[in-house]
Order: sequence, then structure tokens, then C-alpha cells
Amino acid sequence: MRRLDQILANLGYCSRREARAWIEAGRVTVAGRPVDDFGRKAAEAEVRVDGEPLDHPDPLLLLLHKPLGLVCSHDAREGPSVYSLLPPRWQRRNPQVTSIGRLDKETSGLLLLTDIAPLVHRLTSPRHKVPKVYRATVDRDLAPELAERFASGALLLEGEEDPCAPAVLTALGPREAEITLTEGRYHQVRRMFAASGFTVLRLHRLRFGDLELENLAAGQWRELPINHFGR
Ligand code: URA
Repeated sequence: MRRLDQILANLGYCSRREARAWIEAGRVTVAGRPVDDFGRKAAEAEVRVDGEPLDHPDPLLLLLHKPLGLVCSHDAREGPSVYSLLPPRWQRRNPQVTSIGRLDKETSGLLLLTDIAPLVHRLTSPRHKVPKVYRATVDRDLAPELAERFASGALLLEGEEDPCAPAVLTALGPREAEITLTEGRYHQVRRMFAASGFTVLRLHRLRFGDLELENLAAGQWRELPINHFGR
């Protein structure tokens, strides 16, 4: 149970100061009765604001089809972000909704968002080798030795000393390939190709672990059970 003013502020309704005013104005009920004590503790399921149940009191785990052109950063100076696709109230939640790993601005595809911080840490930790599958289009015909280089466990990215873990590259066409990584280094797919002199023109993430976009259109998301990855 949490304090009423804290519940409303953490779910993004308003500031804590505003929550106190809302409560004093009688807009908030607990178990059907108006309360005027903003410090009162309550179970979220019993709270109503203007007669409506609370907007998603449980933690969030969302699978988003990230469109091109949006960043995963919360820093407004970096431009429009994936969070702008969420309902405004969810954008103000605390803990904040954040991405599990990142896709760069010019990469589309499957991106997970959550406000469960330990899940972010677990799934982005190098120890948790969740396979991520990308489709890349490159600027010239794929070289036959590329699959071997990606799989070697010896491929070095510019400016790094630790070689990349073995990755699987499967050609889909002369300039198109599917790549499976178990790591999540900065711009990793683009930099792995760059290490062999290729430029990635298009990059899309198809899968994260056992999850796929299915028929989600770019910009849409669907909710996943919060125990999807276990507890
Ligand atoms: N590799 C990249 O180069 N960019 C991404 O967004 C993800 C993986």
C-alpha cells in the first residue's frame, strides 16, 4: 500500500502537490468513499479518480514496433523519442518507462519498453545472452567470407579491444542478410559490417528472444505479461 498522493504522482496523473489538491477537492475515492487525507495509504485497486479506476497501476512491459526516425533517449535535445508514442500519462510515470537496450534512430523493429528497472538490467546484462535477430541491407554484394568472420568470435569493432561474441549471418539475397547477435554493443550490427568495409543502408530488428512483431504496424505496441521473462 502506498500514500494516495504518491500513487497519483507515480502513475503520471499530476505532481504530488497537485495530487494533494485533487484529494482535498474530493476527486479521489478509496473503496467508494471520498477521502481528504492525502497521506492515507491505499491499495491501487480500490482507488478511483473522478469515478474512474486508476490507469494501469501495474508495472508495464510493452513490445513496440519502433519506426525509423525516433530515438530511445529521454533527452529531448536528441530529438523525438519512442516514448512520444505512449499515452502522455505513461510518459510521466515514476519509475520511468525506458527501453530495454536501444535501437538507433535509423533502425526500425522490435523494441521492448518497461518501467521494471531490474528487468532492464537483467536483459541488457552481457551474462544474459538473449538472441536478437536483425535484417540488414548493405551497400554492395555480401562477401562469401562474411559469415565466417561474424561467427569467428575474433571480429574487432573499431576502438574496442574485446572481440565480438560469435554471431550468425545468413544471406537472404545479394545485399540482404539476417544477423543473430547475443550481445548489444553500441551500433553493433553497423559496426560489424563496417569492420569489413560495408555500409548498412537499412536495419530492422525482427526478434528479441522468442518475441516477434507479428502484425504490429510501425509505431504500434502491445502489452506483454510482466512475467514473460520469468521473475
Ligand atoms: N545494431 C545497430 O547497428 N543498430 C541498432 O540499432 C541495433 C543493433
